[in-house]
Amino acid sequence: MSTVSPDPELFDKIVNLSKRRGFVFQSAEIYGGFRSTYDYGPLGVLLLRNVKDAWWRSMVQERHDVVGLDASILSPPQVWQASGHLANFSDPLVDCTNCNARHRLDKLDDPEVCPSCGAEGSFTEAREFNLMFKTHAGPVTETAAEVYLRPETAQGMFINFANVLNTSRKKPPFGIAQIGKSFRNEITPGNFVFRTREFEQMEMEFFVPPAESQQWYEYWCQVRMDWYLDLGMNPDKLILRAHDDDELSHYSSGTSDVEYLFPWGWDELEGIANRGDFDLTQHANASGEKLDFFDQATNERYTPHVIEPAAGATRTAMAFLMDAYDEEVVNDETRTVLRLDHRLAPYKVAVLPLSKKDTLTPTALRVFDAIKGRWMTDYDETQSIGKRYARQDEVGTPYCVTVDFDSLEDRAVTVRERDSREQDRVSLDQLEGYLDERLS
Ligand code: GAP
Repeated sequence: MSTVSPDPELFDKIVNLSKRRGFVFQSAEIYGGFRSTYDYGPLGVLLLRNVKDAWWRSMVQERHDVVGLDASILSPPQVWQASGHLANFSDPLVDCTNCNARHRLDKLDDPEVCPSCGAEGSFTEAREFNLMFKTHAGPVTETAAEVYLRPETAQGMFINFANVLNTSRKKPPFGIAQIGKSFRNEITPGNFVFRTREFEQMEMEFFVPPAESQQWYEYWCQVRMDWYLDLGMNPDKLILRAHDDDELSHYSSGTSDVEYLFPWGWDELEGIANRGDFDLTQHANASGEKLDFFDQATNERYTPHVIEPAAGATRTAMAFLMDAYDEEVVNDETRTVLRLDHRLAPYKVAVLPLSKKDTLTPTALRVFDAIKGRWMTDYDETQSIGKRYARQDEVGTPYCVTVDFDSLEDRAVTVRERDSREQDRVSLDQLEGYLDERLS
């Protein structure tokens, strides 16, 4: 078990850095802000995309047994009736009669004490509050036109099971993966982008012969833990926690959460669940379609069981940001550095002409043009070189390439590495190879 303790001060540092450097902005800020929704700025959109790309690469591209999907966000009530979300996807809500604060009963440390005002016994009876966003399709606001914004991407995979099976020539064990937005009318959104009403998920449904479900469940728990570690997450801040029996959904025979040590303590990044045949059976019964598999080798027809690794993209991006944040004292000054794995870093390279003088600009732009197709590259000619290095360290850029006056003579540039601050002089015709060796 980890002996590391949470760092509460990190939270404000990350929120400030996110705003100051353009990772994450409060949505509709010029109108006072729209609570619990966030916009990803120029650097945030790159980090988030890199997290999603890393997931897609390991879950789809590098596997022969998983295919992708991009299902619609709007869906008819039948889907959510069959999945159980209309009946069960709710949280118990209590109101404090003293201060009017609303809380989730299941998240209270003491169900008798309001954490907002300290009043005791001031809560109303709990009522179940369904978390799905409902809207209407078409111009008529009537019950027949009711549709829902999906609260998870998972159901898209279940309702397309037969389509994918018939078109991809896959057979169990195989998976369908999807990345996309989901929406939940959370009662208590908070902790920055950790719990929001609009967020992105990265989910995969892995369909297996029933007898193999436990072995695949254990396999996916391991594979998913390894994904975070391979991308550089601190192993002391990551655990796999198996759910107790009373936490399990009635159809699940095993669920484990990947948890990260956030500034407020351990909390969930991803859930890996052994869902049995619940989802396919529910949709088969409700739709009247066959959602099973005929195994020609054994002459058997069966409904596959499902192992589901379900992660949050936005939540994971924030965890990587927090995990990479570091401060160190160099020459009596504190330097902030994001020690992000280069696959996640928003910019891989920054090209920095030593001065804004016209004499350096053409060479610096030629360097930028030569590498921009390979790596996301920043070009910055403002401020002193020291300040520009500091700005790149703070957003995690692994390599800074400085074009100086000598470059015009020796056709070489200085390459500075983020973590060690070590510098190499590299000739222009070897620059791409030098970066390729370190960034591939
Ligand atoms: N299909 C199963 C499912 O959706 P979940 O545990 O409810 O399971 C999976 O969600 C992941 O989605 C969570 O582990 C979390 O990373 C992310 N997630 C869920 N609700 C979220 C919210 N309100 N804001 C941000 N991320 C959320």
